Amino acid sequence: MEFYTNLFKNRLQEISESKEPSNLYDPVNYIMTLGGKRIRPSLALMSCHLFGSDPAKALDAAMAIEMFHNFTLIHDDIMDRADIRRGKMTVHKKWDLNTGILSGDVLLILSYEQLESYPAELYKELMQIFNKTAIEVCEGQQMDMDFELRTDVKGHEYFKMIRYKTAVLLGCALQMGAKIAGAGSADQKAIYDFGVNLGTAFQLQDDYLDSFGGADFGKRIGGDILEAKKTFLYLKTLEYADPEDRETFLKIYEEPLQRAAQTPEVDGDLAAERIEKVKALFKKYGADQLLLKEIKDYTGKALHNVEGLSLEEKGKNLLQEFSNLLMKRKT
Ligand code: IPE
Ligand code: IPE
Ligand code: MG
Ligand code: MG
Ligand code: MG
Repeated sequence: MEFYTNLFKNRLQEISESKEPSNLYDPVNYIMTLGGKRIRPSLALMSCHLFGSDPAKALDAAMAIEMFHNFTLIHDDIMDRADIRRGKMTVHKKWDLNTGILSGDVLLILSYEQLESYPAELYKELMQIFNKTAIEVCEGQQMDMDFELRTDVKGHEYFKMIRYKTAVLLGCALQMGAKIAGAGSADQKAIYDFGVNLGTAFQLQDDYLDSFGGADFGKRIGGDILEAKKTFLYLKTLEYADPEDRETFLKIYEEPLQRAAQTPEVDGDLAAERIEKVKALFKKYGADQLLLKEIKDYTGKALHNVEGLSLEEKGKNLLQEFSNLLMKRKT
């Protein structure tokens, strides 16, 4: 993995330059160099390599995907009112709201520009999967926000939402890498499905860490609770809580006041208290354990998809190793 991450990081260093107007480009450079796990570009490079090509051929696609991902993060942090990402201030906090909107916009366009280097036929195919995915991400993000205002979200709606907002981009990264390497359509589909299952496990894990992660998570613990996000933990607690706890739980979770709370400084104690109460109910009804099992199940589905790939054992092992590693992540 480190091999692919480093390949990506070197390219990023090469293309990073300070441009004018600085209030447009400084936030772009800030978020792009803030770190992060670089999972998506690594998957694109790895997939291209596994299907027999020089991974460097997928560098532009990998950059496009990581830029797109970072664009979604800038706007996601505005929508989720998040102050901290990767242990640092979010773009709209460090600068301001309008800067976050516009630097996000330009980063999205820069991401598309990366793909211009591919020959016409391949370019068109890459654009098709990229566009389809980008639209799905927007749809997933809208569902995520719509759900904040609902208390009757069903399990299947939740799974569709996380598939769209998060999982399909991992599938897209892998499929683009495979396409660039000239993999056949059956392999492209299998590696895409692998990515979507892995991405679903990944977002479930993100839900888990948002409540039960440590200080190294790099985002505010309990952020989803304060924004009344309809997470797997929420759905399971509602499903199993006795009527009395259910009422208490809903009252704390849906309290409109908490959504109006802008910063931890303003509502510090109150917010902390709410988070602790909700987490206690998550635990009381075993939602945390059910979530850990769900993460395992989706990782299992991803591991199963690997079997169907026309790759040598060595290649399959690499994908399986990566999947198991992801389940143990803390950030
Ligand atoms: C964060 O993605 C957004 C989600 C889809 C959960 P990552 O956890 O991959 O974020 P970075 O890029 O490593 O910071
Ligand atoms: C991430 O959802 C989805 C996208 C950014 C497209 P979250 O809102 O859970 O991501 P984090 O937790 O802020 O990274
Ligand atoms: Mg968010
Ligand atoms: Mg969000
Ligand atoms: Mg999250």
